Amino acid sequence: MEKKRILTGDRPTGRLHIGHYFGSIKKRVEMQESGLYDPYILIADVQALTDNFNNPEKVRKNVREVAIDYLSCGIDPKKTTIYIQSMIPETAELTVFYSNLVTIARLERNPTVKTEIAQKRDLFGESVTYGFLGYPVSQAADITAFEGELVPVGDDQLPLIEQTREIVRKFNKIYGETLVEPQAVLSSEKRIKGLDGNDKMGKSLGNAIYLSDSEEEITKKVMSAITDPNRIKKETKGNPDICMVAYYHKLFSTKEEVEEVCKECREGKRGCVQCKKQLAKNIADELKPIREKRAYYEAHPEEVDKILIEGTKKARETAKETMKKVKKAMKLDYFE
Ligand code: TRP
Repeated sequence: MEKKRILTGDRPTGRLHIGHYFGSIKKRVEMQESGLYDPYILIADVQALTDNFNNPEKVRKNVREVAIDYLSCGIDPKKTTIYIQSMIPETAELTVFYSNLVTIARLERNPTVKTEIAQKRDLFGESVTYGFLGYPVSQAADITAFEGELVPVGDDQLPLIEQTREIVRKFNKIYGETLVEPQAVLSSEKRIKGLDGNDKMGKSLGNAIYLSDSEEEITKKVMSAITDPNRIKKETKGNPDICMVAYYHKLFSTKEEVEEVCKECREGKRGCVQCKKQLAKNIADELKPIREKRAYYEAHPEEVDKILIEGTKKARETAKETMKKVKKAMKLDYFE
């Protein structure tokens, strides 16, 4: 049986944090290890530029950071093709073709795009760029260029996958059955909240624990996490249901630990500092193998480059195949 193609990726605008890890990376590693798929993972530098066009240095630097994060988490270049988006010109070409199949009103209604535009007032002011508004079209090109069937992403990406499916259906209807309609695959774990209780963990929100954070950094961040505000001293009976430390214990501690911590908190027998220290240690322990692998790749940048060069070369070959089919379907296969 032919292996299903997986296509997924991230914008290189910063190092990856535990929200990325639980939201999608862990799932990607599991799928890779199952041996049932042919996974591709892209570092979306072109997409990162849509909201960082004024900061190319930041995007460039983070291409390698994100590659190192992937490798440290267990993305294995022998099993998964890792590539750089801007080095596949076919995706830019497809974006132009697809742009005829999407209306401006539809892009403006895309919930993910809408939320992001609202968050990026500093950059866009009252008027958003053509490139940013259109990034779902380029994402459709990313996915379809590789005939991606499955897309393991966080739930914030669902509207983008839906938009891709619409483009595929429209393309196939007009030009004939050519493109593969992708399906999103969500991680069983739900999105992780930030240390401050915010629904989303993010760099700009300052509430994230990075996969590269040292034990000291993790401890410092956990110490600042929001707890039950009514709990002033240890003897006050606490409510773990409204405490971010308890929330994170559920993700990183054993079931027994969680039960003990919550029980003692409710009885006013465990102080927050002790509870936070225990959590920080558990997070640091869980991330230790990732941190160690990260240190290895940081010390061997030439290995990372080699992986990216080889992955990109292979990806280009695959994208060229799709491009041929698309041009044929669109009657652009002159002199063939
Ligand atoms: N939109 C994704 C993000 O913001 C990155 C991305 C670009 C992507 N192209 C993709 C994800 C294709 C999945 C499939 O991080």
